[in-house]
Amino acid sequence: MNAGTPSGRIPAASALRRSRPDRHLCVVSHRLPVTYTPDLGWERSPGGLVSALDPALRDRPALWFGHANADDPDPPPGRGKTQYRVLRLGRERSVRAIDGACNRSLWPALHGIVERIEQDDSWWAAYADLAATNARHIATVAPSGSIVWVHDYHHILLADELRRRRPDLRLGFFFHTPVDAAGLAELHIADRLATALGRYHVVGTQTPGDADEVAQFVESHGGDLPPTLRSIPVGFDVARWSEFRNDPVVDALARRHGAPGGLLAVGVDRADYTKGLPTKLVAIERLLDDGRLHPDEFRLVQIATRTRAGIGAYDEMLAEIRRSAARVNEAHRRSDGEPVVRLITEPHPPREVAALMRASDMALVTPIRDGMNLVAFEYAALNADRPTALVLGQGAG
Ligand code: G6P
Repeated sequence: MNAGTPSGRIPAASALRRSRPDRHLCVVSHRLPVTYTPDLGWERSPGGLVSALDPALRDRPALWFGHANADDPDPPPGRGKTQYRVLRLGRERSVRAIDGACNRSLWPALHGIVERIEQDDSWWAAYADLAATNARHIATVAPSGSIVWVHDYHHILLADELRRRRPDLRLGFFFHTPVDAAGLAELHIADRLATALGRYHVVGTQTPGDADEVAQFVESHGGDLPPTLRSIPVGFDVARWSEFRNDPVVDALARRHGAPGGLLAVGVDRADYTKGLPTKLVAIERLLDDGRLHPDEFRLVQIATRTRAGIGAYDEMLAEIRRSAARVNEAHRRSDGEPVVRLITEPHPPREVAALMRASDMALVTPIRDGMNLVAFEYAALNADRPTALVLGQGAG
């Protein structure tokens, strides 16, 4: 694992600093660092991508392009040296290209969870149209000679149109997810994806194994290998998470979690089927049922932030873990009245996550497959001054 260097440098950020500093930077991802909901307005976006990029952009002026729905209000103009640029998404495209092609086809394919792949040719048509529209927009705005740094599966096809319209741009693509060649081979537009990947100047992945998977996929589907293809793992903001150790607000919040009695374990995940949450709860249930764990000795607070609502697999998983937690809490009661398993599905700001982690004795990071699990790094940095346990599954990246 690469947890960044002790000085707090971030590998992806360092790679960027070494790139030509005179070139303007354009970042493209599905979400901007802020996401709109009618209840909360513009709030920090979920997921590891935004956490990973935030610190990397601190020192350098950049434009950040990301999707927003057609009827969302305009986002804030930007933050620090980064200006936000919206790529508008109509309802139809959002359903077909994002919920469909991205989340129901590409997401399980990249994670190698083949049995979850669903496909529809109208989703792929919408996915390609969206790439063409976005590329036109970026091509009109990107300053001459910019580096365009594209993130994740939502935008793989951008290279086609951008190369044609703007040969002056340097194009990079980064996979925050794992990559699975066999999963991608299942997709109806596998050849087109492989060709597009070959049109980037640089393709980066989290692990060397993921880079091998990209090479295998591209070569077996008629694409050219990109000139640079290698693992450039993301890191996290070491300094920020270390500073939380001396933050009085974090301390005060942490005291609220520290009920007496046994070990407190934490889990911090998006409620995604790749995160292995049902299995984690089954494991805890078995230990309790077998009597190897006593409810007064152990409790788990699991943040399982609700995500991708309206997609069957996500709603089912959330319902399953809710049932599982209720079953455990019903069968195994603690003498202090606290539930053994507490599920939190609302988004949690970083300070509150830090407080929960500071109050805990261990973290359970047990995804089925992750690109690079940043929570594991954050937990280690935050608790470097006291004994804690980090239980790390093999799928953590
Ligand atoms: C991961 C992916 C991102 C994605 C995020 C949240 O970090 O790599 O591309 O944005 O999850 O997923 P969502 O579908 O809610 O944007």
